[in-house]
Amino acid sequence: MKKSAIIVAAGSGTRMGAKTPKQFLNLHKKPILLHTIEAFTGIPEQISVILVLSPDYKDHWYEISRRFDFQHTITIADGGSSRFESVRNGLQKIESSDGVVAIHDGVRPLVSHKIISDSFELAHEKGSAIAAVPAKDSIRQIDGSSSITLDRTRIRLVQTPQTFKVSLIKDAYASASTGKGFTDDASVLEHYGAPIHLFDGSFENIKITTPDDLLFAEAILSRKK
Ligand code: C5P
Repeated sequence: MKKSAIIVAAGSGTRMGAKTPKQFLNLHKKPILLHTIEAFTGIPEQISVILVLSPDYKDHWYEISRRFDFQHTITIADGGSSRFESVRNGLQKIESSDGVVAIHDGVRPLVSHKIISDSFELAHEKGSAIAAVPAKDSIRQIDGSSSITLDRTRIRLVQTPQTFKVSLIKDAYASASTGKGFTDDASVLEHYGAPIHLFDGSFENIKITTPDDLLFAEAILSRKK
């Protein structure tokens, strides 16, 4: 099974409130993005990595890879103005339609080897594999000034990796004329009409979005040391 990973890291990360996009901030003295990439290059599976970057930050990445002596060969793709466009650009770098591809947020550095392996296995078998966790809190759906409760046992919070047969996800992206309304890849596949298969992600596999997420990630890494 040919395995690729598209790591999308072309966002500007405004919710973090820092000047540098969040994927370049340090976590345990190493940029978040490097932790994320090494989660894929540092495991026994052979995975071809495609890193999607804003053209403005390519030099920044080259400087990081030199500073941290990052030796793996990876492919760089240009980011777009939305996550949808960034993923689409990454998919274009995969020439063959064989195999499976994991699409992963550059700002989820704590993804485990098990989650990555499980996602490739399930996607190979079923076509799609979407990491998700149950909701811990009660959930209310708002409608204007009122709101209704939802059955929490039927809610899942969706993470990445979202892993697919390459041919299927390429067709799904090609069929969506605009990226409007798509915040992840499962929703692109759903719009295309193919089934979505969920598997267990982890509460540690957080997306670093705000400063408190960074504190949480530091705490998890300290515990692992
Ligand atoms: O904005 P959001 O938190 O949903 O971003 C998820 C991931 O998508 C991040 O890793 C971000 O860098 C990436 N992204 C991208 N290109 C964009 C917007 C977001 O690669 N235009």
